[in-house]
Amino acid sequence: MDKDLEKIKNSALSELENASTVDEINTLSVRYLGRKGAVTQYLRHISSLPEQERPAAGKNANQVKKILEDAIKTAKERLEDIREGSESAGIDVTLPGRPALQGTLHPITQINRRICDIFIRMGFDIAEGPEVESDYYNFEALNIPKYHPARDMQDTFYMSDNIVLRTHTSPIQVRMMEQYAPPIRVVAPGKVYRCDSDLTHTPMFHQIEGLLVDEKVSFGDLKGVLTELVHQVFDTETSLRFRPSFFPFTEPSAEVDILCVMCRGKGCKVCSHTGWLEVLGCGMVHPAVFENVGYDTRRYTGFAFGMGVERIAMLKYGINDIRLFFESDDRFLRQF
Ligand code: PHE
Repeated sequence: MDKDLEKIKNSALSELENASTVDEINTLSVRYLGRKGAVTQYLRHISSLPEQERPAAGKNANQVKKILEDAIKTAKERLEDIREGSESAGIDVTLPGRPALQGTLHPITQINRRICDIFIRMGFDIAEGPEVESDYYNFEALNIPKYHPARDMQDTFYMSDNIVLRTHTSPIQVRMMEQYAPPIRVVAPGKVYRCDSDLTHTPMFHQIEGLLVDEKVSFGDLKGVLTELVHQVFDTETSLRFRPSFFPFTEPSAEVDILCVMCRGKGCKVCSHTGWLEVLGCGMVHPAVFENVGYDTRRYTGFAFGMGVERIAMLKYGINDIRLFFESDDRFLRQF
């Protein structure tokens, strides 16, 4: 075959192979087979060749023309197949991409951090302790001896006779006092476990414990710290009420109510028409607890408190079913 013809064929075939749109193929078709195309021009120049070369040259040129026509058809079919393939798979390749959904912190994590931040600004440190706890730290050291009726206050998951899933974060108080001498100022967030399940209780929930021990610490200090907490988590219009209560590890003990966040004290379904909502337990650390950790009860006094994080989150966001926090329903979680 003539060298020029060979070159035309090879460059046409390689360009066709690289063509990625029908437009590109059409352009190539015009460039090679069109009226002024390379192959057409080659055919035309055959008449100027010497007589005996013409038949072979004409045959070769027509062969190349046929090869290129076939290659153009195949190239178009190939593009068509790709398009149909993605269409039948339900993919419209012309649509813009979907952005990936961005996650957020779980509402319990958000409230937890917010509360811890408030205490950090008041000079508290953060402490943690084990969730699988010994009977001693969960009960005994907190002035709750075996068979004491106070144990019935908390429905305990027993792992064995002496090992429990902690029912509250108060054992961290004891662990901190064993480790450090006063003054002590810590908050301890964490998971706790109780055998209980309904609209407002789940077997696992979160608490934040607080402990402050120093010389001359008074119940007034406790009131001040908790008032600041409530004012920062809710708002400064949310007043507090300290109601006498009982915990074996504090004396005196109190339960703290806040003015109902729904009705502002008028009385509604959420506050059972009392105008108040219970949010946490607290009190002055019982001398028996100080004795268990070897603190001098004549020199030191302190206060402790414990609150349920889910409870506070429910009041803050007006959620009436605690289980929503644990169902991982994206439509719920996305609202925070
Ligand atoms: N640990 C108590 C509870 O879980 C709350 C509490 C903590 C009360 C500290 C007083 C002092 O109910």
